[in-house]
Amino acid sequence: MIDVAFLGTAVRPAGTAVVIDVLRASSTITLALASGYERVLVAGSTDAAKALRAPGRTLAGEVGCARAPGFDLGNSPEETLEPRTAELVLATTNGAPAIVAAAADADEVLVASLLNVGAVCAQLAGREDVLLVCAGTDGRVSMEDVYLAGRISAELEGPRSDAARIAESLAAFYPDAIDALEASGGAIGLRREGLESDIAFCAQESIVEAVGRLTEMVDGAALITAAPVTASQTAASELNS
Ligand code: MLT
Repeated sequence: MIDVAFLGTAVRPAGTAVVIDVLRASSTITLALASGYERVLVAGSTDAAKALRAPGRTLAGEVGCARAPGFDLGNSPEETLEPRTAELVLATTNGAPAIVAAAADADEVLVASLLNVGAVCAQLAGREDVLLVCAGTDGRVSMEDVYLAGRISAELEGPRSDAARIAESLAAFYPDAIDALEASGGAIGLRREGLESDIAFCAQESIVEAVGRLTEMVDGAALITAAPVTASQTAASELNS
């Protein structure tokens, strides 16, 4: 069954949970791994992230979309393009707690964004129990996350829930990702903080192959590394080259 949880707080047990926070946590994790960070430690709060500070780690995260006080980086994906250390520690308001929650409930956790949507769909081929988890914003459903859930759901084979069909309908309504992101609630805080360029950046589709996957929990944080490339990913990139 392909299903969708419209909020990160609505995670339930699943074979594979795919956590989505397009603006911006899941985009940042994806680009960090693609850029060369070897590991991303996703913390459930900024205090938990601070407790993980150590040599060889860069702290990234936001409060109200702005860089968290005392952190090295904010939560703009492009800030990860030049890795400073092997590990990135990330704490965000909604996306990071959704990943930590999924880690407690699902057998496998993947991290999806538009930046790696093609690779995520390739990873999910053949999975039978998939829960697409939309992080949302401060307890409210976020359209940009449901949009991506719908895009992914539409690519998967097998039975789907009504929630998945609702997400697919939303995705079909917006032919271009940028329109869904621009119209979304998640974009409001970014505009307020002068970070609107992140909206267009996060709307880019399949620009990287890296797919973050939960490896283990480390001191209460979810350790995310790049999943091995699947045979269907390799076949797809050969077709496109
Ligand atoms: C979150 O986790 O709430 C978001 O990633 C917020 C943001 O845009 O930084």
